[in-house]
Amino acid sequence: MPIDKNELRRIMGHFATGVTVITTISQDGTPYGLTANALTSVSLEPPLLLISVDKKAESYPHFEQSKVFTINTLREDQEGVSRRFAVSGGNKSEAVAYRRGANEVPILEETLAHIECRLYATYDGGDHTLYLGEIVEAETREGRPLLFYRGGYRAFAE
Ligand SMILES: Cc1cc2nc3c(=O)[nH]c(=O)nc-3n(C[C@H](O)[C@H](O)[C@H](O)COP(=O)(O)O)c2cc1C
Repeated sequence: MPIDKNELRRIMGHFATGVTVITTISQDGTPYGLTANALTSVSLEPPLLLISVDKKAESYPHFEQSKVFTINTLREDQEGVSRRFAVSGGNKSEAVAYRRGANEVPILEETLAHIECRLYATYDGGDHTLYLGEIVEAETREGRPLLFYRGGYRAFAE
């Protein structure tokens, strides 16, 4: 019997992750983004990472079209940003200060890191599409991470 959706979510929730907002742009340059924790480091040479985007997400067609995206790794005090980008609709970019990268994709301010990618390959991932991104630019900053575990936001205890 295939595993139930909620049960799968519960099981995968036992794998603790950080939290990111992945940004992209539409054809006319409008910012789009969604909260995501499906992020995997893949290759060092060339530098590649993998993300997984829901085909039903509002931002999905823009990931398909733009072929560029930026990973923004959230800080412990950015739970509000994560919550906003985890809900479809409205103007999400009003929720957070950002600047544009060289590829015009928004880079959120005051995150732990941002990683600018151009599309390297695309794979079908069931109800998601997997995007392999080649890292073109990245920067890190000091701070503490926002964590996600068993369906809730967490922070380091110490
Ligand atoms: C902690 C967390 C992690 C998430 N990870 C992903 C993910 O990796 N991929 C994805 O497509 N959606 C993920 N989501 C759900 C999207 O953020 C959510 O569907 C969002 O509304 C999509 O935005 P959009 O419809 O404006 O594109 C995650 C949500 C949360 C709260």
